[in-house]
Amino acid sequence: MQSAIAQRLEAVLGPSHRRGATLRALSVEGVSKRYGETQALNDVSIEFEPGTIHTILGENGSGKSTLLKLLSGIVQPTAGRIMLNGNEIRPRSPLDMQSLGLDTVFQEVLITPYRSVSDNVLLGYDGLFKRRIPERLRDATAKAALDALSTSPIDLDELAGEVPLAMQQLIVIARALSKLPSILLLDEATAALDYGDRDRVFDVVTDYARAGNLVIFISHRMDEVKRLSDRVSVLRSGRLVDTLQRAEVTSERLLKLMAPEAVLHA
Ligand SMILES: Nc1ncnc2c1ncn2[C@@H]1O[C@H](COP(=O)(O)OP(=O)(O)OP(=O)(O)O)[C@@H](O)[C@H]1O
Ligand SMILES: [Mg+2]
Repeated sequence: MQSAIAQRLEAVLGPSHRRGATLRALSVEGVSKRYGETQALNDVSIEFEPGTIHTILGENGSGKSTLLKLLSGIVQPTAGRIMLNGNEIRPRSPLDMQSLGLDTVFQEVLITPYRSVSDNVLLGYDGLFKRRIPERLRDATAKAALDALSTSPIDLDELAGEVPLAMQQLIVIARALSKLPSILLLDEATAALDYGDRDRVFDVVTDYARAGNLVIFISHRMDEVKRLSDRVSVLRSGRLVDTLQRAEVTSERLLKLMAPEAVLHA
């Protein structure tokens, strides 16, 4: 079964852009990351399953972004292993991970302001595939990805630096999804969106996971976490506290795992 966004892209590009069907079992085993005096992650082990949305939850500074940066190849662990399909991988750069089928939407909105909306959606696309997108299909491809995520009208030729922040955030989400990664990492990726667009993005992401892909999701908002998560791993001060299955998830339980002191004082 293909995801809805894969179908939209295929309608424009034909089946040639499709990546090989790769169900990727990803896990971290005892990973730690130290920045000088700060132990950002401490001996964390998590198994991620294809076809699920796996949320990483924790207070500010608990190590969520650090975990995603390790998985994205941006920083390297000081200890522990990252495993993909049963083999240890040692990514040295985001390109290493992209070529393995993983893409990330970071907490910061990363756009190239002096290039068009269309160029920004397709940024990084060409390097990844043997076939480039033909010039005449570039706009249609970017539009297909953006239309999947939003009903707002979009001028594809406008400079990306001049569109509202919410649209920029949709652009970076569309950029990641248009590559059809088997593993999609989202770090607070919907923070700038209004409710309508956020809702739609969540539907797209849910559909994407149901099609067999792995989505790893970071959010602060309890309603989003409960709505989307098949599993939730809670970090506190860089350590894994627990991983809950969907049926075990309640706000009270999550809050207690995140910050037991706060619950005691409440
Ligand atoms: N490049 C860095 N250099 C030094 N310390 C860092 C660096 N990146 C993160 N840290 C520290 O590591 C810890 C974990 O940070 P991280 O960004 O992973 O937390 P987070 O859970 O994503 O927080 P937030 O909810 O605020 O995004 C924090 O104490 C942070 O200050
Ligand atoms: Mg963070």
